[in-house]
Amino acid sequence: MSSNREHFGSRSAVIMAMAGSAIGLGNIWRFPYMTGEYGGAAFILIYIACTLILSLPIFLSEVVIGRRTHSNAIGAMKQLAPGSGWRVLGYLSVVTPMIIVSYYSIVGGWSIEYFLKSFSLGFGEFTPSGWTALAFDTIFLALSCGIVALGVKSGIEKFSKMSIPVLFLLIIIILVYSVNMPGAGAGIDYLVKPDLSKVTGKTFAFAMGQSFYSLSLGMGIIITYSSYVNKEENVIAMGLGTAIADLMFAILAGFAIMPAVFSAGIKPSAGPGLIFQTLPFVFTEMGAGVKWISVAVSALFLLTVIVAAMTSSVSTIEVGVAYLVEEKKIERKKACLLVFILTWLLGLACALSIKVFGMVDAFASNFLLTIGALLVVLFVGWKMKRKDVRDEITNGGTRNTGAFPVIYFLIRFVAPLAVLMIFISNLLLR
Ligand code: PHE
Repeated sequence: MSSNREHFGSRSAVIMAMAGSAIGLGNIWRFPYMTGEYGGAAFILIYIACTLILSLPIFLSEVVIGRRTHSNAIGAMKQLAPGSGWRVLGYLSVVTPMIIVSYYSIVGGWSIEYFLKSFSLGFGEFTPSGWTALAFDTIFLALSCGIVALGVKSGIEKFSKMSIPVLFLLIIIILVYSVNMPGAGAGIDYLVKPDLSKVTGKTFAFAMGQSFYSLSLGMGIIITYSSYVNKEENVIAMGLGTAIADLMFAILAGFAIMPAVFSAGIKPSAGPGLIFQTLPFVFTEMGAGVKWISVAVSALFLLTVIVAAMTSSVSTIEVGVAYLVEEKKIERKKACLLVFILTWLLGLACALSIKVFGMVDAFASNFLLTIGALLVVLFVGWKMKRKDVRDEITNGGTRNTGAFPVIYFLIRFVAPLAVLMIFISNLLLR
């Protein structure tokens, strides 16, 4: 089955593609605000701990499923647990990303719209839903599907290898400008000053949830991407590399955004309001009367948002495409067209009504993702044979053998409880 499958070309290519999936809107519109509101440097430390003890074990569990079978999420579950109810995990892993990309691409569309507006600085009022939103959503989705249609190597790998360095470069350019604005210091303090009085139970719940979402877990993406990874790859190094790139970008985004926000004397915020209401105002102020500077900073920032969102949407689209190509024997380009049509239709209601958008987002990110991740760790920790899991994580006993017992313990006991906690806190706190 795996003989004529594509593979990523190198370790760096794998990490770029996975980092591309990880780096997205979450890093830009949620991480900086959460950091500032929940303890600054203390939040970042807690975030790192959550990544190591919760997200990495889930990540590795998905890798075990994907790389062991070299198959799409549904095919993987068919191989590992033929004829059993665990098939549900396969189906869920393909359906969730389709739902997510159907509204994620609407945000991608807003970014394209705002990117174009930035050249005249005519941002106007933010209208999240309607025909314009639908038109730009269509453009964003079509571009993302187009990249996936080119294939794993010449589409996803090439795009990620180009995008990740560009993303870091862009965010650093904006950062340099932002931290040099008058009064930027308050924004820096907001992000780094450890404030233990802000560290509560909520901090832990948010740090866990954010780390988990940011690494794109619980929706078949890591299963699918790691099915294109060869057997020699050190999977722990792969997970750490992805997590480090993701966190670095999130921190840089914080320093690119918050100093400018404070310098303009505005209250920090998160979500679409930050990117499409607060920041356009901030950027317009930023040029201090020199229009081309405002235009340049806004355009570069919105380009960053577009590219970051697109490397994520590409990863969600690939999950469904891999399934259609392998299980349904549909040719890749046709499979991409089919996914495009399905997700476009799914997103219609979200594009036309911001209320529906909010509901679908809450359902998918609070419910579907956590159920997906819970099933993954339960399957790998309790249903698969320990020997098989060990074999995959240690590459047949040749590396990571010392770390394995710790990882296995985290997968079996810590991760399921932590995911349950995220689930409950999502219900109670949002
Ligand atoms: N990891 C992405 C982010 O931080 C979120 C995402 C999850 C995007 C799943 C696509 C699919 O924005």
